[in-house]
Amino acid sequence: MTMPTNQAMWLPAKGARLQLAAAPMPIAGPGQIVVRAAAIAINPVDWIVQRMGGLGFPWLRYPMVLGWDVVGEVTAIGEDVTQIAVGDRVVGLAVGQDKAVNDSAEGGFQHYVRLRESMTAPIPPTLSWEQAAVLPLGIATAACALFQKQHLALAHPSAPPSPIGKTVLIWGASTSVGSNAVQLAVAAGYEVIATASPRNHAFVQQLGAEAVYDYRSPTVVRDLVEAMNGRELAGAVAIGAGSALPCVAVAGGCAGDKAVAMVSPPVSFDQAPLSKGRTTYLLRTMPRVVVGMLATILRARGRGVRTGFVNGVTLLHDEVGPMIFNEFLPAALTSGRLRPAPNPQIAGHGLSAIPDALDRQRRGVSNGKIVVTL
Ligand SMILES: NC(=O)c1ccc[n+]([C@@H]2O[C@H](COP(=O)([O-])OP(=O)(O)OC[C@H]3O[C@@H](n4cnc5c(N)ncnc54)[C@H](OP(=O)(O)O)[C@@H]3O)[C@@H](O)[C@H]2O)c1
Repeated sequence: MTMPTNQAMWLPAKGARLQLAAAPMPIAGPGQIVVRAAAIAINPVDWIVQRMGGLGFPWLRYPMVLGWDVVGEVTAIGEDVTQIAVGDRVVGLAVGQDKAVNDSAEGGFQHYVRLRESMTAPIPPTLSWEQAAVLPLGIATAACALFQKQHLALAHPSAPPSPIGKTVLIWGASTSVGSNAVQLAVAAGYEVIATASPRNHAFVQQLGAEAVYDYRSPTVVRDLVEAMNGRELAGAVAIGAGSALPCVAVAGGCAGDKAVAMVSPPVSFDQAPLSKGRTTYLLRTMPRVVVGMLATILRARGRGVRTGFVNGVTLLHDEVGPMIFNEFLPAALTSGRLRPAPNPQIAGHGLSAIPDALDRQRRGVSNGKIVVTL
C-alpha cells in the first residue's frame, strides 16, 4: 500500500503569487484531528492577507498556507478526541493563522489539514460537501460578534429559542458573516432587523429577519431608528466596508444596549494590487482606514455607543468556539435549524483552482460563497 502524500497551495512570501507544492503530512496532537479535504471555501481575508502583505497578521511566517473553511473525511484523531472518529464527515475552521497557532499544518488550502476538535462539527448525510463548506469563518465571525463578552454578549442559542424581547441589527445581512449572524441571533431568541441590497431582502427574511432595509438608501439610518421605535436594541453587527459609522448612528438613536460589533474595516481593500504597486496602494489607503476608524470611535464616544473590532478566530480561545461547533452546529444542521448560507458557487476543482477562486471572491459576490472542490 502506498503512503498518502500531501500537497498545499503555498503563499511563499508577503504579496507573492500562490504556488502548488508538496507539504508535510499533518499529525494530530491532543484534541486535534486530520481530515482529507473534500472542499474548501474562500473568504475575503484570504486575498486580503495575500495582497496586503499580512496586514493584521504580522506574526505569520512564510511560506504559509492560507484558507479557513474546510470540509472533509477524518483520517486521524489525536489523544483526548472524544466526539469525532476516523471516517466521519466534518466541517471545521482551520486556525493556522491564529497568532497562538501560526502553523501551516492548520491552513485550509491543502489536501490533508489539521483541525481542532473544538472547532469542528460532524456533517449530517443530508448535507453535501459544497453546502457545508460555506460555514466555518462566516459562522465563527458571526458568533464572536454576537456572543463574546467583549462584543454584544447575547444569550446563547437554545432549542426552542426563548424569546428575549430585544432586537439585534445586522448590517450587511446577505454576506456570509451576516447570513449566519441573522440565524444565530434568531436561534438565541432575538428579533432581527437587517440591511442588504433589495435583491437579497427575501433571502434575508427567509433566514429569520423581521424587516430588511437597503443599506444604500439615503434615509436608511432614519428608517432603522424609526423601525426600532418601541423596541429595545440588543446591539448591532456592522458588516461591509464603512458600515460601522451608520450602525453607530442607529445605536445612538435607539433605546437599549448601545453596542456595535465592527466586522469590516472602513475601506474595502479589493483594489489592492498583487505585488507591484503595493507600497503606493498602502500609502494611499491606510490613512483613509485610520481616519475612518477614528471618526467611528469619536462618533461612538459622543453618542455613548460601545464599539469593538471583531476577530473571527478568537472563539478558539473562549467558550464560544465549543458552544458553536460542538453544541449548536451538530444539532442545528441535523434539524435544519441552521441553513448553511449563502449558497455555494463552485469556482473549480483541485488546489490549482484556488488563485482564480480568490480573484472571483475579490471581484465580488452577492449572496454566494466561492467554493473549490478537491
Ligand atoms: N473581522 C473578522 O474576523 C472578519 C471575518 C470574516 C469576514 N470579515 C469581513 O466581513 C465582511 C463580509 O465578509 P463575508 O465573507 O461575509 O463577505 P461576502 O459574503 O463576500 O460579502 C458579499 C456581500 O457583501 C455585501 N456588501 C458589500 N458591501 C457592503 C456594504 N458596504 N455594506 C453592507 N453589505 C455590503 C453584498 O451584499 P448585497 O449583495 O446584498 O449588496 C454582498 O452580498 C468583509 O468585509 C470581510 O473582510 C471580517
